[in-house]
Amino acid sequence: MRACDPGDVPELRTYRTGDLPAMYRICLLTGDAGRDATALYRDPDLLAHVYCGPYPTADPSLSLVVMDDEGLAGYLVGTADSAAFAAWEDEHWWPALRARYPLGPDDGTADHGLVELLHHPPHDEPPTGYPAHLHIDLLPRRQGQGWGRRLIEAFAAALAERGVPGMHLRVDPRNTPALAFYDRLGFTPGEDGALVRPVSPRP
Ligand SMILES: CC(C)(COP(=O)(O)OP(=O)(O)OC[C@H]1O[C@@H](n2cnc3c(N)ncnc32)[C@H](O)[C@@H]1OP(=O)(O)O)[C@@H](O)C(=O)NCCC(=O)NCCS
Repeated sequence: MRACDPGDVPELRTYRTGDLPAMYRICLLTGDAGRDATALYRDPDLLAHVYCGPYPTADPSLSLVVMDDEGLAGYLVGTADSAAFAAWEDEHWWPALRARYPLGPDDGTADHGLVELLHHPPHDEPPTGYPAHLHIDLLPRRQGQGWGRRLIEAFAAALAERGVPGMHLRVDPRNTPALAFYDRLGFTPGEDGALVRPVSPRP
């Protein structure tokens, strides 16, 4: 059975088991500052192992997807508590990946950069008052139709229910469309180059 009938309005829903392979593909297809990163990586899953997979695995209730008649068209993955999430990754996520991707000498590839990252994750302190963080990616066919805003506000509502005061994220400075989007959504520059927003945006 199809996920939606042709012509159906896309649906925003929380993550379900089985969504992850399509999310991994979207992560790669939007992974070069918002554009297709397929040509950059030899291993098509490495980028999502770092920036997508751990989030729904750690807390499925804070991952959201947009479904349309062609399938999964975008997602938001996030955590309510970045410090606790980093500790969870250290215990439950990185060890298996380190065994699968041993750290070899720097061969100048983008893959090596990600393998270096999973062996030595940065553990940045979250900006004070903004403990949550997120990653959001929509396929081109669903960009510019309000789904990014809906995903962010649904995530913010889930955080508000948990009493989380604010969220942050980091953006590749080359990704000027995303910077404009976050500005429009009420994110402002915070500590250490992060963009921050209270869960309820300022009026
Ligand atoms: C960035 C992204 C998440 C934005 O989602 P989107 O669905 O395209 O954006 P929306 O349609 O929800 O736009 C929300 C608001 O931002 C504004 N906006 C979005 N993109 C904009 C742009 N490039 N320039 C100016 N304003 C923009 C919209 O006009 C809209 O304003 P309004 O709601 O007040 O009318 C999406 O385009 C995307 O996934 N891009 C590729 C992957 C990516 O770059 N991810 C972010 C990595 S940090």
